[in-house]
Amino acid sequence: MAILIHPLHPTFAGEVSGADLRAPMSKEDVVAIEAGMDRYAVLVFRNQRISDDEQMAFTRNFGEIEHARGGNITKDDEFRLQQGMIDVSNLDQRGQPFDRNDRRRMFNLGNRLWHSDSSYRAVPAKYSLLSARIVAASGGNTEFADMRAAYDALDADLRAAIEDLICEHSLLYSRGSMGFTEFTAAERAMFRPVRQSLVRTHPVTGRKSLYLSSHIGAIVGWPVPEARDLIRDLIEHATQRAFVYAHVWQQYDFVIWDNRQTMHRVRRFDESQPRDMRRTTVAGDAMTAAQAPAEA
Ligand SMILES: [Fe+2]
Repeated sequence: MAILIHPLHPTFAGEVSGADLRAPMSKEDVVAIEAGMDRYAVLVFRNQRISDDEQMAFTRNFGEIEHARGGNITKDDEFRLQQGMIDVSNLDQRGQPFDRNDRRRMFNLGNRLWHSDSSYRAVPAKYSLLSARIVAASGGNTEFADMRAAYDALDADLRAAIEDLICEHSLLYSRGSMGFTEFTAAERAMFRPVRQSLVRTHPVTGRKSLYLSSHIGAIVGWPVPEARDLIRDLIEHATQRAFVYAHVWQQYDFVIWDNRQTMHRVRRFDESQPRDMRRTTVAGDAMTAAQAPAEA
């Protein structure tokens, strides 16, 4: 069956028909989806009643699955899902919604800030793939922002001023901005900041985009308050409604986004009810900037 893509927004995001993600994909279909990702940066597939194993197999069509290590505070015996699956539900390992003060819940609330997945890793993620197993009765939309359109809309002076800037990204910064600051020494070491270019160029299309994320807490060589002022200003610019597609989840929706070209955030929902969302992540293949020399 031929894959067709119908645009959902003037600059990005498309809805795909003609694909069953549970079945092995033909080479042509994988190429068509990758081409769709290059153009739309967010692709929506409806009615994909997929299992975890099928989701991981589908994900491998686009590259290696990223290791979850170093990206959360969940302890080894607290995982609900198998390795390779990222649990972005509101559920503990027994399948119950987290208590209000559960540390994991408070940490996960950082997903409500605009971000790009794994921008806190030296080699950041390529795609994220999210399967909606149980959706919220209301709320819980995921919003996406087109970082190419946001870049294109900057004036020439600002574009020139930011061209070569390098930012420091860490989960300590995004969580810290929400008042979640109680980290163990091991967590602080795990969440050590990494460096990323502020402007990225897409390897296939050559389009430039803003590589923004709430994980940013500093710009190399800049005073911190000045850096945070610029980053706030850029995030405000990049997330104006003209650049945003808000996805209203239906059960068994499957959404893929390109973290190199978009930011996203989840909106509030009733957390007393289960919202079971399961992510896989395609690892990126390169750093965007040289890392800081290791401390002595
Ligand atoms: Fe995310």
